[in-house]
Amino acid sequence: MHINEAQIRQDLAALGVEVQSSAALATLTSLGIGGTTDLLRITRHDSIPALVDLLDRHKIPHKFLGGGSNLLIGDGELPWVVLHLAKPAPDVVIEGNFAHVDAAADLGRTVTFCAKHDLGGLEGLIGVPGTVGGALRMNAGAYGTQIGSYVTEVKVYRAAQRKMEILRGDQISFEYRHTSFAPDDMMLAVTLNLPSKPYKEILQGIRICNEKRRASQPMGQKSAGCIFKNPPGASAGRMIDELGLKGLSVGDARVSDRHANFFVNTGQASAGDMLALIADVRDRVEKTYGVKLENEVVVWSA
Ligand code: EPU
Repeated sequence: MHINEAQIRQDLAALGVEVQSSAALATLTSLGIGGTTDLLRITRHDSIPALVDLLDRHKIPHKFLGGGSNLLIGDGELPWVVLHLAKPAPDVVIEGNFAHVDAAADLGRTVTFCAKHDLGGLEGLIGVPGTVGGALRMNAGAYGTQIGSYVTEVKVYRAAQRKMEILRGDQISFEYRHTSFAPDDMMLAVTLNLPSKPYKEILQGIRICNEKRRASQPMGQKSAGCIFKNPPGASAGRMIDELGLKGLSVGDARVSDRHANFFVNTGQASAGDMLALIADVRDRVEKTYGVKLENEVVVWSA
């Protein structure tokens, strides 16, 4: 979708919003998949209500992109524009045991930055790609850690109510890869309350998690992490593996040889290829195990 009208462009500029025309979203997702649309870069949180009003008034549909690491975007010219937060400097501020983190901050860098200030707890999240905002929305987790456990406050733009809100941690429910945020809530900033731990000790925890991840997950390949959620009491990866589906492909979309719940883009996979592979694997698992796997990856269809 293109914003061509000069007046809208001027209004966007006045709000501190930078427009990148026909951005290739494939370059902004870890799967390397996604079509093109105008990308609107937000430099000031306080301009968001006026920005959303402006887009609504001109009937311009929009979506909000975080780090793009758990996302499968459709192919071709997309029927909505994409909003994206610019990263402020600094993006993490430490105050005692509290880390105030901008939603656009990189999750891995936040983990190590906090570690250097002797704040631990987040070790398990090292190696999870994406932004802190994306991790928060999904309640990202690994190796026994989930980000929701440390949240004391979240600044959010609630599109449905058209207002900024500060939520306390206990007003949000954090479950397995799910939170009580509405789909159109935009994460803006979060405060984490982290336990004090010596840097060296945290580093040891980080090393252990890195090793575990390297041993079991494909690294350096284009993926969106796990494609399916684990059904209660079972492992999607193990079920797919037991069916002998590692290496199964549609075009360049392929079930990883290393971890069967990771689907990788080995070249020029399209969203169509990846969706067909997801559907095929889901069907096969359902036929054998009677379990319908639910997507963990978020899909933005064209
Ligand atoms: N397994 C296989 N074959 C495979 C993959 C796994 O037999 O191809 C077996 C493993 O041997 C193990 C069991 O399945 O016995 C579970 O595997 P793993 O420890 O790799 O954990 P997972 O349940 O597959 C979850 C998260 C990961 C997270 C890891 C580590 C989900 C959907 N996945 O994976 O998160 O990194 O635990 O904590 O909850 C993600 O969210 O994108 C993600 C990758």
